[in-house]
Amino acid sequence: MRIGVVGSGYVGLVSGACFADFGHDVTCVDIDEEKTAALNRGEVPIFEPGLDTLIERNVAAGRLAFTTDLAGTVRASDVVFIAVGTPSRRGDGHADLSYVESAAREIGAAIEGFTVVVTKSTVPVGTGERVEEIIREANPDADFAVVSNPEFLREGAAISDFKRPDRIVIGSDDPRALEVMREVYRPLFLNKSPVVEMNRSSAELAKYASNAFLATKIAFINEIADLCEKTGADVQNVAHAIGLDKRIGPKFLHAGPGYGGSCFPKDTLALLKTAQDYEVPQLIVESVVSSNDKRKRAMGRRIVHAIGDNARGKKVAILGLTFKPETDDTRDSPAIAIIQALQDAGANVSAYDPQGVEQASKVLSHVDYASSPYEAAEDAEAVVIVTEWDEFRALDLSRIRDCMRDLVLVDLRNIYHRQEVERLGMKYVAVGR
Ligand code: UGA
Repeated sequence: MRIGVVGSGYVGLVSGACFADFGHDVTCVDIDEEKTAALNRGEVPIFEPGLDTLIERNVAAGRLAFTTDLAGTVRASDVVFIAVGTPSRRGDGHADLSYVESAAREIGAAIEGFTVVVTKSTVPVGTGERVEEIIREANPDADFAVVSNPEFLREGAAISDFKRPDRIVIGSDDPRALEVMREVYRPLFLNKSPVVEMNRSSAELAKYASNAFLATKIAFINEIADLCEKTGADVQNVAHAIGLDKRIGPKFLHAGPGYGGSCFPKDTLALLKTAQDYEVPQLIVESVVSSNDKRKRAMGRRIVHAIGDNARGKKVAILGLTFKPETDDTRDSPAIAIIQALQDAGANVSAYDPQGVEQASKVLSHVDYASSPYEAAEDAEAVVIVTEWDEFRALDLSRIRDCMRDLVLVDLRNIYHRQEVERLGMKYVAVGR
């Protein structure tokens, strides 16, 4: 198959590289000339484990190319994926579809021969119809079908999620388009990955419902964690016990500082906006959004409480800035809200993160970035683990203790055992335990 991917961002690059690895002939298009030139020099603009070698291998095999020529790519493709961003529209939380719409317009103008246009970007239900209209307006004679094929990739595990997915969702009623999509995903059919076909609206909504449900699991266990703290229960035991029920499942039941990232916060809001448009209440998702927002702020207060309810002039060391490990992404990261809350309370903040400093420093000010957890902990009253990077799981705690001023470890990811920390003479504050 000849595949065009419009948008060389996170989703576009991962999908393009994986499709090429399946043996398809893939061209990734982006309007950003600098980014495209960098990709052609072999520089990968995002941090995702394994992506650079995957790109290198497929470029070398002649199956993957990068260009700014959208029209040429569309003309030469059987399938064109739209993988541009759908950020929250400023002010109202609706998904901003302007990039999707302009991509659709350009694709429409260039279509020659039967072309399947696929939205991979996360788009509100009804967008497929809009894309279809735009293409028809741009090119009334175009022979095309618009399919929804949402992505379910986790940052940090995107390549394995792409190649060993729990499911592939294909939304279309057009037999010719379905035939093409089956061919695109043929290597995964052979793997017996479940491929579920449905109408376009269902596929679009399945993506939002999926993220909203996962966000709900997290918000739920976080509230249970609060209750555990008051009642002497341990949230890890509670989560383990409930997760063994196959109807509930063990995943996404890790209590922590609240969910962040580029997906859950944005997609839950966009789902609420769609629900408002259709006047269908989504009370559960509404509570999840507000519970998670409150939680991030509450974590700041928890840290201030742990250092004697007065943070003024005290140094707090933050370990982890990204919203989760194995990414450099700090969008909506709990660490950002926590640092801002600590600074509002008068604390001086030092921070260490293996990948997130560059992005975090764009939104934070007056943070002292350290080159190791130990440097960050120097003279701190408290060390706070916000992201569960592997390197924080095996800290030399006595070394940390020896360079701190006061001895408080706030473990917002529950990666240490209380006894182990207390044995070193440190105070241990965890989540839900
Ligand atoms: C999420 C979904 O997991 C993907 O399936 C989806 O494709 C993606 O959004 C998307 O829509 O593009 P991602 O945002 O990369 O993926 O990250 P997750 O691994 O889902 O984590 C999200 C947040 O939840 C993180 O802040 C994480 O720390 C938090 N989390 C996750 C918890 O606090 N507890 C858990 O048990 C699990």
